[in-house]
Amino acid sequence: MAFTQIAAVLDQLLHWEEGTAEPLLELPPDSDLGDAAFPCFTLAKSLRKAPQQIAADLAEQFVLEGVTASADGPYLNFRLDRSAYAASLLQQAEALPQFGTGETIVIDLSSPNIAKPFGVGHLRSTVIGAALYRMYAEAGERPISVNHLGDWGTQFGKQITAYKRWGSQEKLEASPIRESLDLYVRFHDEAANDPSLETEARSWFRKLEEGDEEAQQLWRYFVEVSLAEFNRMYERLGVTFDKVLGESFYNDKMGAVVEELRECGLLEESDGAQVVRLDEEDMPPCLILKSDGTTIYPTRDLATALYRHDVLGADKLLYVVGAEQSLHFRQVFAVLRKMDREWAANCQHIPFGLMKFEGKKMSTRRGKVVFLEEVLDEAVSRAAVIIEQKNPQLQDRSAVAEAIGIGAIIFGDLKNNRIGEIDFSLEEAVQFEGETGPYVQYTYARACSVRRKAMVESNTAVSVSHENLAAYTWDEASWELLKRLGDYENELQRGLRRQEPSVLARYALDIAKLFNRFYHHNKVLTDAAHERTVRLELTRLSALRLSRVLGLLGIRTPEEI
Ligand code: ARG
Repeated sequence: MAFTQIAAVLDQLLHWEEGTAEPLLELPPDSDLGDAAFPCFTLAKSLRKAPQQIAADLAEQFVLEGVTASADGPYLNFRLDRSAYAASLLQQAEALPQFGTGETIVIDLSSPNIAKPFGVGHLRSTVIGAALYRMYAEAGERPISVNHLGDWGTQFGKQITAYKRWGSQEKLEASPIRESLDLYVRFHDEAANDPSLETEARSWFRKLEEGDEEAQQLWRYFVEVSLAEFNRMYERLGVTFDKVLGESFYNDKMGAVVEELRECGLLEESDGAQVVRLDEEDMPPCLILKSDGTTIYPTRDLATALYRHDVLGADKLLYVVGAEQSLHFRQVFAVLRKMDREWAANCQHIPFGLMKFEGKKMSTRRGKVVFLEEVLDEAVSRAAVIIEQKNPQLQDRSAVAEAIGIGAIIFGDLKNNRIGEIDFSLEEAVQFEGETGPYVQYTYARACSVRRKAMVESNTAVSVSHENLAAYTWDEASWELLKRLGDYENELQRGLRRQEPSVLARYALDIAKLFNRFYHHNKVLTDAAHERTVRLELTRLSALRLSRVLGLLGIRTPEEI
C-alpha cells in the first residue's frame, strides 16, 4: 500500500509510465536502513548522472505525507512514519486474500500403490499436494484433490498367486502392507526356481481382467485392506481427498482412447507393441498397448486426463509426483496435444526431489524397508519425550505429542524447496529450536498463553484505540513484526505462482522469529494500558497468522505445549 504510493511519486519524478517503479523497490537488508529502498544504478546511463547524484536529487524532490526519503550512496531509502501507518498495517495484518478466480484445479496427489508400502515419494506427494490444495482453496480457487491409487496391473496376478499358496487372512488383516510385501518377496524368491509361478500369475491377472468372480473378489479385498492402512496414515497427516479414483476406474475408459489414437493414425507398431511416436518432440515413443494387447500406465493417464477435463470440469490439471516421472508426464501431455486437446497446455507435472531419512533411502527393496507408519510413530515418541521434559504438567500430552511429531515431519519436508533433495533428520526436526515445525508450534502456544494470562489478569476486552496507537512507541521489534504480518496475501500469491509450499513455511518461520524477538524486547503485560493493548493486539495477530499458515501446511496448532 505504502509501497504503491511511494512508487507512484517516483514514477512522476522520473517521468515514467505508471507502475514502472514499483517492481524496482526493494526491502533493505537491514531494517535500520528504512522500510523500502530504490536502487539508482540502472538509471545512471539514461540520466547521464552518477547513481549517488541521482539518489541525492530524488531525495530532495521526494514529497509524500508520512514518508521520508534519504539518499544513502546509490540508494534512495524510505522510512514510514510508524504511527501514521500503524492503523492500516494492523488492518492488513488481519486481512484475508481474495485474488482467486474460482478456477477448477484438479490435483493428483499421494497416489500410492495397493499392496505395496507407502513410499517416501508418496509421503512427499501427499504433504506437498495437500498444502497446494489448501493454498488454492484459500486463494479462492476451486481445487479438487484426487488420490489416483495404483490398484491395477500384473502384480495383482502375482499377489493372488502368492496369497492363495502361502497367505493367511489373519496376517493380512493384522498388517496388510507388511504381509503383502512378504508375499511379494516370497513370490519372487520362489519364482526364481519355479517358472510355473509366473505362468500362474499371468493367468490370474487375465482372469481378473476378464471379470472372474474369485479373482475380482480377492483383488477387491486386497484394495480394501491396503486402503484401510493408508487411511490411518491420511488421518494422522490430516489429509482428505475429494475423490479416490484408482487406476482401475479407467479400465472401461481406455478403449475409447486407443480407438481415437488409431483413427487419427497416431498409433504405430514397434516390436509388436503399439506406440505414439514423439520424435519431433525429441522424446522416446509413448507406449500405449503392450505386445499382448494390454494397456499400461501412460494409457491410463491419457484416459484419466480426459476424465478430469471432460467430466470433472478441470481448468487446470496438476500432478504432484516425483521428478523421476518427468518423462512420463511430458509424453502423456505431448500425446494429448497430438489428440488436439488444446487444454493439454493446462496440464502440469509438479515434481519434487528425493528424501532420505538420516542418509538412508526409504525403499521397498527386499529386507530394508522403512515403513512410513514407523517413521510417524518414532517422531511422535521423540516429541513425547521432549514434552515430558518441558512441561510434565501438560494435559492431553499424547494428543499434543501426536500434533508435534507429525508437524515436525510435515514441516521438515515443506520448509525445503520441493525440487531439491532432502536429507531428513528426525533428531533435528522434532526440536523446539531451529527451523522446525515444533519451533513454530511452540511460538504459537506461547502467544496463546500470553493472551490467556491477560484475560485472567484483566477482563477488559482488548481494542486498540487511535489514542493507544498514537501513544505507542514503535520500537524496531514491534514494527518489523507488524509489517511482516501484513505480507500474508503476497506470500500466498508468491507460493502459488511457484507452486511452492516452502514459501509459506518460510513465512511462518519469519513470523515466529519476529514474534519471539518482539516478545523478548517488550513486556506485553505491562501496566501502561496503551502499550499493553497494542502489544496484546500484535500477539493476537501473530497467533492468528501462525495458525492460519500452519493450517495451510497441514500442521495442527495446540494452544498449550
Ligand atoms: N502410483 C504411481 C506411483 O506410485 C503414482 C501415480 C501418479 N499419478 C498419475 N496420475 N500417474 O508411481
